Amino acid sequence: MRVEECTVIAHEVMGSGYRRLELEAPGVAGGAQPGQFVHLRVPGIECTALRRPFSIFNADGGRIELLYKEVGRGTAAMAAVEHGSAVNIIGPLGHGFPEKCSGVPLLAGGGFGVAPLFFLARRLKNSGLSPVLFAGGRTKTDLLALDRFAELGVETFCATNDGSAGVKGLVTDPLDDMLSKFKSEGIKFEIFACGPDPMLKAVAMRATGTRSPGWISMDRHMVCGVGACYACIQKTVRGNSRCCIEGPVFAAQDLVWE
Ligand SMILES: Cc1cc2nc3c(=O)[nH]c(=O)nc-3n(C[C@H](O)[C@H](O)[C@H](O)COP(=O)(O)OP(=O)(O)OC[C@H]3O[C@@H](n4cnc5c(N)ncnc54)[C@H](O)[C@@H]3O)c2cc1C
Ligand code: FES
Repeated sequence: MRVEECTVIAHEVMGSGYRRLELEAPGVAGGAQPGQFVHLRVPGIECTALRRPFSIFNADGGRIELLYKEVGRGTAAMAAVEHGSAVNIIGPLGHGFPEKCSGVPLLAGGGFGVAPLFFLARRLKNSGLSPVLFAGGRTKTDLLALDRFAELGVETFCATNDGSAGVKGLVTDPLDDMLSKFKSEGIKFEIFACGPDPMLKAVAMRATGTRSPGWISMDRHMVCGVGACYACIQKTVRGNSRCCIEGPVFAAQDLVWE
């Protein structure tokens, strides 16, 4: 874990309320693993606001990329950050996705939940595996970075609530079709997921229900980001766990849903 003063090398709008921020961050990028996050001090409001956590969307060649959605004061201030300016981050933080995967990796992401899955897909591809992505959102502009997954050669299935892209429905619809196929053909798989809680619960149930490994990246409000404040508690079969230290990635069978 490092504290690093980074330079913004790209900052672009990706669609309705989403942006990609690319930082020159050799210290953090060097040790980053898929599923880990950075805690970012938001320029302009650093005296009155806490750091904000963001998944590492990509880390390569001394640079990291973040994919974020503008939802409130912190992310609105981030949106004003200009090319060439400085941003302070702490990272890489947390416990990411496991390094080994047995079976076909099935990646399920909702909205900006695809962010850690892209970095994971790169690592899986580099180890000779063929991940399949299931991307979901309310509408087609919530389906992010599909071009990046396509460049990697990741087979992708989409679902939107309004049917504007992919199948009309939930991300679990195309996932269920694939799980049925895999069941009938006896194909082993592992599930990796990040997104809103209801989606994560549904995906985790599918992993436990099929007795397959499932790895779920939880999004909890964070304060310190380094294990000291217990603001980011997630209930697990072992009791309360800190999302920033024991997580954000948890084994599906360990999670207790409220
Ligand atoms: C490990 C981790 C990884 C994350 N990765 C990403 C990412 O890759 N891209 C991205 O866009 N966001 C990500 N988030 C969520 C991001 O941290 C919040 O959206 C951000 O902190 C909101 O700050 P804000 O000041 O703009 O919003 P606020 O003004 O603090 O809140 C605005 C609204 O967003 C809700 N909100 C705030 N924080 C969270 C949160 N952590 N989870 C759910 N709802 C929240 C609030 O309840 C409120 O309704 C991640 C969170 C965690 C814990
Ligand atoms: S945010 Fe402080 S313990 Fe996790």
